[in-house]
Amino acid sequence: MDLPLKLEVLLLLCSFHTVVWACPDGCLCHETKILCNGLSGFPTIVSSATTTIYFSNCSIYSLKPEDLTDFSHTLRVFVMKDTVLREVRTGTFDSAPNMDALGFTTTELQDLPEKLFQNLQNLNSLNLKNNKLLVLRPNWFSTLAELKYLDLSKNLFTSVPVETFHPLTVLQNLLFSGNNIIHLHRETFKGLSELKILRLNSNSLQELPLGSLDDLGELEELSLQDNLITHLHQDLFSKTLKLQKLFLSNNRLRSLPQGIFLNLPILSKISLYENQLESLGPGVFGPMALQELWLYDNKLSRVEDDTFRNLTQLRLLVLSRNQISSISTRAFGGLEQLGEVSLHTNLITTLQAGTFQDLPSLVNISLEHNFISSLPLGFLQGVSNLGQIDLQNNSLPNLPQEILDALSSAKEVLLQQNPWRCDRDILPLRSWLKQHPSKANQTLVVCETPFDLNGEVIALLEDENFLSFGSTEAPVWTSTEKRKKPQTPPARRSTSSPVAKTTAASESGGEEVTSGGQGEKDTVSKDNSIILILIAVVATVIIITVIVSCVCWRKNKRGRGNIGRRNKNTVL
Ligand SMILES: *[C@@H]1O[C@H](CO)[C@@H](O)[C@H](O)[C@H]1NC(C)=O
Ligand SMILES: *[C@@H]1O[C@H](CO)[C@@H](O)[C@H](O)[C@H]1NC(C)=O
Ligand SMILES: *[C@@H]1O[C@H](CO)[C@@H](O)[C@H](O)[C@H]1NC(C)=O
Ligand SMILES: *[C@@H]1O[C@H](CO)[C@@H](O)[C@H](O)[C@H]1NC(C)=O
Ligand SMILES: *[C@@H]1O[C@H](CO)[C@@H](O)[C@H](O)[C@H]1NC(C)=O
Repeated sequence: MDLPLKLEVLLLLCSFHTVVWACPDGCLCHETKILCNGLSGFPTIVSSATTTIYFSNCSIYSLKPEDLTDFSHTLRVFVMKDTVLREVRTGTFDSAPNMDALGFTTTELQDLPEKLFQNLQNLNSLNLKNNKLLVLRPNWFSTLAELKYLDLSKNLFTSVPVETFHPLTVLQNLLFSGNNIIHLHRETFKGLSELKILRLNSNSLQELPLGSLDDLGELEELSLQDNLITHLHQDLFSKTLKLQKLFLSNNRLRSLPQGIFLNLPILSKISLYENQLESLGPGVFGPMALQELWLYDNKLSRVEDDTFRNLTQLRLLVLSRNQISSISTRAFGGLEQLGEVSLHTNLITTLQAGTFQDLPSLVNISLEHNFISSLPLGFLQGVSNLGQIDLQNNSLPNLPQEILDALSSAKEVLLQQNPWRCDRDILPLRSWLKQHPSKANQTLVVCETPFDLNGEVIALLEDENFLSFGSTEAPVWTSTEKRKKPQTPPARRSTSSPVAKTTAASESGGEEVTSGGQGEKDTVSKDNSIILILIAVVATVIIITVIVSCVCWRKNKRGRGNIGRRNKNTVL
């Protein structure tokens, strides 16, 4: 080849190049890629070497075969989004066999031709998200043997013909969220042995048929949240051994059958909140890698022994906003890694001693918004690294010294919004608050009763506050309290804390009306309402006694004797 010829070829190539690479108005071009935004119609000149074309926010209403003829053989990626597109004509992609990815998202499309994708045998990814597609046409996918990614979410599909996905034997992601699917056939996912992600959330599914996941041996993520599922069969997940994420929140699950999660060894995420679960028990969770378990907004009324025993890697357990009134002693048995347990907004009135005892990693306990009126001795036994314990908005009238000693190991204790009763029994709390100003916000811990101390900051209460009331009523009060609560150990509180002891001494010095020694010290500081109640009780008993006596007087002598005894028990 001589020189002039070479030059000629070079020049020819250059001119060809400039013609070929003329970038359409309103588009950006880079190498063989074109990005168009805001066009009012399909560009008339598109380079025949184009591999990728991307339209957004364009006023293109219809797409037809002629639009693509110049570049269809080189085309690999075609995307149209945020566009008013209403129609794609038959044959548009027929001469684009090298297409790798195709997407129509956020358009006005309501339907697509049956055979639109028939020649796209190399298609890897098809994204039809967020259109207005109404009917799923099984023939769309019949030749897409290479498809790995299919997104059909956010359309208006109401059903899935059973054979629709069967040709997609290498599919890895099937995204079908946000439609209105009510029912799936047992064989809908048949043969999808490479599927890794299946999203069916935000539909109207009421169940998932038994066996429908049996071919999905590679499944890693299954999203079923935001449906209307009422029950799941115990063997539904028996073949999905590789499942790592399972989302079931916001359904209508009433129970979980025994055995349902026994065979999911690498499951690390599960969501079950916002259901109607009434019970859970051992035999539901098998050994798995779960670190967080969210069960809030269900209807659990109790937590049974060993329910979570297999969840040895669990770090967070959320049981808030249920109706839990009872927690068995070994309810949290086995949770060696548990760092936080959330039990707030339930119906808990008391806890068992030892509930938290086998939880060496426990840091945070939230118990706020319950009805806890007392805490058992040793309820924090074995918890060595306590961070925050939240007892806000419970029914605690006071806290005895032993409990306060246990709480001292926490970094933070939230105690506000309890009906603190500022009588002598509040003294241990008062001194604890003073001793540990960094653990609780003192200004928020205030008396609820008696009335004249309502709203007073407990840590700032003076000894006189305890002297100023209760003493005049002491005689009446004492005689009743002693009998109503015979089991109350009278002297302990006044001896275990120096502050309490001092006050007790001065108080007993201030009121000598009573006759009973130790027992009375405990009882002087109560409010008037109890006396009124007592008077009412006594009056009622007398009236009842009179009535019953009258009735029985007419009966035999044995009856009279019984009544006498009962009468005595009630009043004294
Ligand atoms: C879309 O295009 C219209 C004009 O056609 C323009 O006013 C609007 O700002 C564009 N929106 C975006 C997000 O580009
Ligand atoms: C723990 O998992 C095994 C299966 O590996 C199961 O048999 C057992 O019932 C589970 N235990 C509890 C307490 O759920
Ligand atoms: C405990 O609670 C604190 C404060 O809310 C938080 O920073 C910490 O991460 C929690 N620790 C654990 C183990 O959950
Ligand atoms: C206190 O707890 C009760 C019962 O859970 C709840 O109804 C109420 O809203 C809570 N109060 C506040 C102020 O959070
Ligand atoms: C205690 O609570 C009050 C009222 O919410 C707040 O203003 C104050 O900053 C809190 N103090 C501390 C130490 O957190």
